[in-house]
Amino acid sequence: MNILVTGGAGFIGSNLCDSLIEKGHNVSVIDDLSTGFLENIIHLQGHPGFKYTNDTILNASVMEELVAESDAIIHLAAAVGVKYVIENPLASMETNIRGTEIALQLANKYKKRILVASTSEVYGKHTHAPLKEDDNLIYGPPSTMRWSYAAAKLVDEFAAIAYHRTKKLDTIIFRCFNTIGPRQTGLYGMVVPRFIQQALRDDPITVYGDGQQTRTFTYVGDVVEAIIRLLSCPHGSGEVVNIGVMEEITIAELAEKIKILTSSRSEIVFIPYNQAYGKDFEDMMRRVPSLEKLNALIGYVPETPLDDILVKTIEYFRAKTT
Ligand SMILES: NC(=O)c1ccc[n+]([C@@H]2O[C@H](COP(=O)([O-])OP(=O)(O)OC[C@H]3O[C@@H](n4cnc5c(N)ncnc54)[C@H](O)[C@@H]3O)[C@@H](O)[C@H]2O)c1
Repeated sequence: MNILVTGGAGFIGSNLCDSLIEKGHNVSVIDDLSTGFLENIIHLQGHPGFKYTNDTILNASVMEELVAESDAIIHLAAAVGVKYVIENPLASMETNIRGTEIALQLANKYKKRILVASTSEVYGKHTHAPLKEDDNLIYGPPSTMRWSYAAAKLVDEFAAIAYHRTKKLDTIIFRCFNTIGPRQTGLYGMVVPRFIQQALRDDPITVYGDGQQTRTFTYVGDVVEAIIRLLSCPHGSGEVVNIGVMEEITIAELAEKIKILTSSRSEIVFIPYNQAYGKDFEDMMRRVPSLEKLNALIGYVPETPLDDILVKTIEYFRAKTT
């Protein structure tokens, strides 16, 4: 198959490209390198089944050429990361709403299957577990910029479902929960790469808030496997599905674990949210996915244990700094 991966130079995208190429697909990437890196895909350049276009998904004419020559689209390009979205609110909304609208419009014009990346952030301030795809969603006010990412991704979900219902567009929306592994950057507020880099430098490991908020962390290789299975799944068109794991850990425990696994001399320090993100910030205390629907659709759920993922990611960062 010829597969267009938007945002393919990013963390999940580049790992996805590697796997698609390995499975014999032809892959075309469009990425503007706003948060992605050429070095993530440099090893694929020159491969006969790989093509890279350095442009924005907001360029509709370039997107049209790429969609026309593909058999399916995996739409990952987005402004990502709490810190990035808070610092770039307007550009983030443009990419995350207008960019997805362009991708959906073109997928519909050429009648191509499109998988749309969404996020566990859309669940908002829930504290119950597990979160099911048809749960209600609870957000804070629009003055709290953090929610703009969730709201924009939710608009993407509504748009994809609307195209499916009115135009029969073949679309699946997948909500990724915190995904981690090699190639994730710590530059835009992602907690695991940030902690690992701090620990490797013996700098203080900075936990935001009291560290009692929990998260579930999924290995990028498992997320990629789930996405590829969804791509060829005969069911699920018009559906929303979670991708994640159910194993929970507090952020304070995560910091401790990373300190031990890196044999670091770092101190663990707690920083109030307003110091880390400015005023008007709210965190989500808990985020655990229900995986029933994913399992029913593709017969697979991610299962790499957290320690194994952390060891691989620590190795990646060690190799980068030597
Ligand atoms: N990593 C996670 O934990 C996580 C969790 C939930 C959802 N997601 C979703 O998965 C997708 C991939 O995220 P990621 O973690 O790989 O982040 P990433 O920042 O590494 O990847 C996003 C890619 O999109 C590119 N991009 C951004 N704006 C663009 C534009 N206008 N035109 C072209 N390219 C553009 C970036 O340069 C980057 O390469 C995103 O849609 C994100 O919302 C990720």
